[in-house]
Amino acid sequence: MKKEFILSLDQGTTSSRAILFNHRGEIVEIAQKEFTQIYPKSGWVEHDPQEIWSTQLAVMTEVIAKANVKLEAIKGIGITNQRETTIVWNRKTGKPIYNAIVWQDRRTADYCKAIADRGLDKLIQEKTGLLIDSYFSASKIHWILNNVEGAKAMADRGELAFGTVDSWLVYNLTKGEKHVTDVTNASRSLLLNIHTLEWDDELLELFEVPKSMLPQVCSSSELYGHTSLEIGNVNIPIAGIAGDQQAALFGQLCTEQGMAKNTYGTGCFMLMNVGNRPVISKNKLVTTVAWKIGDQVNYALEGSIFIGGAVVQWLRDELGIIKTSAEVEKLATSVSDTNGVYLVPAFSGLGAPHWNANARGIIVGLSRGSNDAHIARAALESIAYQTYDILKAMENDAGSKIQELRVDGGATNNNFLMQYQADIVQTKVIRPAVTETTAMGAAFLAGLAVGFWKDIEELKTLWKEDKVFDFRKDEGQYAAALKEWKRATETVKFWANY
Ligand code: G3P
Repeated sequence: MKKEFILSLDQGTTSSRAILFNHRGEIVEIAQKEFTQIYPKSGWVEHDPQEIWSTQLAVMTEVIAKANVKLEAIKGIGITNQRETTIVWNRKTGKPIYNAIVWQDRRTADYCKAIADRGLDKLIQEKTGLLIDSYFSASKIHWILNNVEGAKAMADRGELAFGTVDSWLVYNLTKGEKHVTDVTNASRSLLLNIHTLEWDDELLELFEVPKSMLPQVCSSSELYGHTSLEIGNVNIPIAGIAGDQQAALFGQLCTEQGMAKNTYGTGCFMLMNVGNRPVISKNKLVTTVAWKIGDQVNYALEGSIFIGGAVVQWLRDELGIIKTSAEVEKLATSVSDTNGVYLVPAFSGLGAPHWNANARGIIVGLSRGSNDAHIARAALESIAYQTYDILKAMENDAGSKIQELRVDGGATNNNFLMQYQADIVQTKVIRPAVTETTAMGAAFLAGLAVGFWKDIEELKTLWKEDKVFDFRKDEGQYAAALKEWKRATETVKFWANY
């Protein structure tokens, strides 16, 4: 086998990772560093952009040293990243003028509501595929320009640059030479017209963002530039960029229309490939660019669940009913059902398809015999039910049934959850052998651009199943449980809106 590699940089919300892949698509080495989460006020979440860069550079250096490979052997770098997180920097100094405002940050919720109240939501959805929400980048740029002293005037003079984390990393890797982004990241800004794949003047005016700040929009697989010699003694091609959820869709080889993946991390992000034309959701999902390779553009429908695997951390850290996350499966399966208990983990509001920011979690159906095992089981089941809600919305929007659900992320190690997921959605659930699909997707995109892999057909031979969870036929029990789940979520919404 060729001793050549692709390096994937996976810059996530809580850690920076670097993963080296070989020609067979196997992980050769991996390095990871967590970084500081900054919470200046309730509902605000920031990162230090310099720390994002320094941790990313550190893991990149570490992985290369650990694998003991020469820089010449790295044929390309693929970048994948937490999406929407917004960084504004001074073009002259290369220094950020404010911390990165993270996708989870809600400080611009009122501003977004005011825009929605002007009746602009339909226009915005048609152009961008998104809903007006503080989740996306535009309102965060607006906030920085209007709250950092002198920022607006500097932006008007063309002295400032905006970028999502991908742009920021490329800018630093190339020592300020390149200011680019890819279509998948740009499609999360609320400023990109997803039909033309260009920045939209009307939206720029609405959010008061000068066009001069914006990066050049590129495809997801092409040569964007090379690493600077100050980083290492070889200029490595930077050849793939995609937002992390789109990269996971690609890493799962969901390359045909109708294929879907769900990533079970802190939250869950489910994406379905809808082909070469955007499908605008009628069920409160968002439409996003899945990738652009050459002239081929693929779109996806996306549903985000805010609390997925994090509900297990809650059982561990707040309730203290398990010591490690891995223990949850044993506890949950020590009982045969939840004994009528339902837990809706709306700890930070409900995401798709409800979008209720005021919602908070509940446990219903408690009786004298309810115990920790019932609650643990209800917590795991809630992940499967939330996924069901999104999957059904997707099937309705797409007008077709999902044939199989490919899964990745930490919680997919939980066999009980995966089996229950298959039963609830009455669809086969497939866990791949390599569950680092986000990093793998970015590596694939870079590898295609530099000719490391020939085409998507070759990539398909690298993707392997670990386990298939076939669904058990519903004898009425799953339908009944879903009815109760619906009642529980309705109760959450009633409580939130009271
Ligand atoms: O849209 C936010 C998403 O990209 C964050 O992903 O994996 O960093 O939590 P993650």
